[in-house]
Amino acid sequence: MEVNNLQPEINKAKRGEMIAVCSAKGGVGKTLLSVNLAVSLSKKNIQVTLVDGDFQFGDVSIAMDLHTTFSIKDVIEEISHLDQFSLANFLNRHESGVKVLAAPERPEHADLITPAIINKVIDLLLIQNDYVVVDTGVGLQDKSLTIIEKADQIIVVTNLEMTTLKNTKLMLETLDILGMRDKVQVVINRSTMESVIEATDVPDILGEENPIYIPNDFQTASQSLNIGVPFVSNQGKTEIAKAVYKMAEQLSSRREITMFKPKSPSIFTKFLSKAKRTKEGI
Ligand SMILES: Nc1ncnc2c1ncn2[C@@H]1O[C@H](COP(=O)(O)OP(=O)(O)OP(=O)(O)O)[C@@H](O)[C@H]1O
Ligand SMILES: [Mg+2]
Repeated sequence: MEVNNLQPEINKAKRGEMIAVCSAKGGVGKTLLSVNLAVSLSKKNIQVTLVDGDFQFGDVSIAMDLHTTFSIKDVIEEISHLDQFSLANFLNRHESGVKVLAAPERPEHADLITPAIINKVIDLLLIQNDYVVVDTGVGLQDKSLTIIEKADQIIVVTNLEMTTLKNTKLMLETLDILGMRDKVQVVINRSTMESVIEATDVPDILGEENPIYIPNDFQTASQSLNIGVPFVSNQGKTEIAKAVYKMAEQLSSRREITMFKPKSPSIFTKFLSKAKRTKEGI
């Protein structure tokens, strides 16, 4: 496959904002929050594309009740001559206006999606969108890291469970080492859940002064995912929906602040090679 010259020509002034939703543990609410955040942002009458970056077991299509015709796997076949116009043909339109780039149908196809492909696809999407939200696969695997490194804002979702908090802390420390800590916004999901650890303890535990709190509402959350109607569309008066609207506002205003800040050079590669050298005792 021809994957050279993957860097498209981009008018930097028109570049949209990329938000990666990720977590150190699975099942914490990344998909629920990605979908509802994307729909909230689209209510501002702006162009929003949601990328299912959980390339093995992505479920954004189900969460939005989309019978997707195309996925990122189809994009790969066109990659050498892909531009923003041909890429638009592979997006699936949700009734909210959000466009969705679905994950491959089969988990084994995830291996076909390389960092170069991810970079090219997202660069092209950023030309035509105000926001590109990515529901990222769990942890710090190479594909997730490609997405995280590329993002303007990184949402790290956690809950009140000890194991999640321990891993979230490690993830935040790693992002700090990689020089990406200032792009991070911690979100404490299910913050009103009964738990030994209180939501108010989390800032101290994680060393994060201003997390965003999303309340626990299992009925609304599970209905949103299972029926495939995002709760911000049909349950706008619930506390959980209000919290997501507020999060969308907060992320938009953060954008204004970071908009003209120059991007730091890629240090992930340096970090990896340093880690590899240390492991090999070089
Ligand atoms: N704020 C919330 N209140 C109650 N339940 C929630 C909340 N957020 C998520 N859930 C529930 O948690 C479960 C996991 O949510 P979701 O699938 O969005 O997590 P995920 O991080 O995308 O998981 P995975 O790592 O498998 O992709 C779902 O059953 C969902 O209904
Ligand atoms: Mg998910």
